[in-house]
Amino acid sequence: MLARRTKTLLRRAGLLPKIRAAAPAEPPPAPPASPQLTPDGRYIVTADLKQKLHAHGIDTSPPAGAMALPADCVLESPCSLQSMEIFGRIAIGSFSYAVNGYYNNVTLGRYVSIGESVQMGRGDHSIAWLSTSPFFYLPHPVFNVGRDFEGAASLHAFRPDLTDREPFVQGRTIVVENDVWIGHGAYIRQGVRIGTGAIVGAHAVVTRDVPPYAIVAGNPGRVVRYRFDDALIARLLASRWWTLAPWQLQGIDVSRPAASIDALEARVAAEEPYQPRIVRLTELL
Ligand SMILES: CC(C)(COP(=O)(O)OP(=O)(O)OC[C@H]1O[C@@H](n2cnc3c(N)ncnc32)[C@H](O)[C@@H]1OP(=O)(O)O)[C@@H](O)C(=O)NCCC(=O)NCCS
Repeated sequence: MLARRTKTLLRRAGLLPKIRAAAPAEPPPAPPASPQLTPDGRYIVTADLKQKLHAHGIDTSPPAGAMALPADCVLESPCSLQSMEIFGRIAIGSFSYAVNGYYNNVTLGRYVSIGESVQMGRGDHSIAWLSTSPFFYLPHPVFNVGRDFEGAASLHAFRPDLTDREPFVQGRTIVVENDVWIGHGAYIRQGVRIGTGAIVGAHAVVTRDVPPYAIVAGNPGRVVRYRFDDALIARLLASRWWTLAPWQLQGIDVSRPAASIDALEARVAAEEPYQPRIVRLTELL
């Protein structure tokens, strides 16, 4: 055994390895947080999920825990959900946003702008049955109530007899194409398609498909005019300019589309389409 002083001298002379302080042990990785679900089976946007969405280019406004998203949620980056209430399946294209409102089975293209309190895909009740009440067609409890009232035990035990009944089907998909602007408080009926470049006026009730570049207003929604003449609409649709990102359109005078259409077509031909990251909610959980 070498004396401590001898070891120190040998170390200083480089003849014994230096003593290194033991590296602090790495903390074990935190177990992945298990996804939190709402009673209707949607994923709560926890702080962790909100941060992941943000990092992948998806903007959400409500604080952690105050928003929920369905499993079937496919989002192109960047897009902004702000305070949307999303129930059934949703797909949203890049550069699109909605301020808030209700969405059920909706596909939004690129560059879609949606104002406040828009309602898309509200479900119908059973119109042709004896009753429109969900007590007769929902296979699960209609109310979330306690047991201290007349009939409570029977209510909790009750389920409608749905055997041999025509299924009550709803939730036809709404398709909103590209560069559509939907004004404040509009109601869009399930199953409707809104064409590229269309505008839906404030408080319009849209029950029928909307042609590309039409401006629709009123209740029921009617075409009040078209944004551009037929020839320009045809060239804009054929150009598919929305496949490019805003920075790829720099230098095009977007305020004068008729004067810029040649340059726009040339730009689309010259540029590679923007390839967004596609965010599937289930891959972030
Ligand atoms: C539809 C809108 C874009 C205007 O389009 P426009 O073609 O310039 O419309 P005009 O003002 O020339 O009006 C054309 C006709 O449509 C009617 N109209 C316009 N907007 C309407 C609306 N929201 N509801 C019912 N009718 C409407 C006009 O009264 C006019 O009818 P008339 O020809 O019988 O007089 C605009 O009125 C609108 O609704 N904007 C939405 C604003 C909004 O919600 N902003 C929130 C931020 S996203």
